[in-house]
Amino acid sequence: MCRILVIYHSQTGNTEKMAREVARGADAVDGVSATLLSASAAGIEDLLACDGIVIGSPEYFGYMAGMVKDFFDRTYEPARGRREVFRKPYGVFISAGNDGSGALRSIERICLGYPFKKVLEPLVAVGCVDESVLSRCRELGMTIAAGCEAGIY
Ligand SMILES: Cc1cc2nc3c(=O)[nH]c(=O)nc-3n(C[C@H](O)[C@H](O)[C@H](O)COP(=O)(O)O)c2cc1C
Repeated sequence: MCRILVIYHSQTGNTEKMAREVARGADAVDGVSATLLSASAAGIEDLLACDGIVIGSPEYFGYMAGMVKDFFDRTYEPARGRREVFRKPYGVFISAGNDGSGALRSIERICLGYPFKKVLEPLVAVGCVDESVLSRCRELGMTIAAGCEAGIY
């Protein structure tokens, strides 16, 4: 079974809605099991155990949410040098009020350090999280799941 980990933080529910759809999309792929966790509940064992990771964050003050940064702070050192983490496929999605670029940039920069392998175009949703955003989230989840399951990354 191929495992996709979806981690996120959300204060007012927008990123959470997106995260649920990403996980739903991944789960819809045969042979794939998605785990949806808040960033605060996720740790190094979850990171080591997954075949691909999708990270979701709101943009707060031009940066990722503090709890997403906290996940990176807690897992970076224990992940260092681990072959399970080296070039692990990852995707990212952002919910923002009017921008999102600062949150995206900060996450992508840290992901280079693990290093994870970027296998999807990031999804940045500005404003309302409507059905078209949610459908793109499902597609993102399906895409990374299908790619990991097929071993193409
Ligand atoms: C403390 C705080 C800071 C924010 N800073 C930004 C920002 O810098 N840029 C932006 O585009 N939106 C900003 N927003 C808006 C949020 O990114 C947006 O409402 C997002 O959908 C919230 O996601 P959530 O519902 O998952 O918490 C901010 C919101 C809050 C509460």
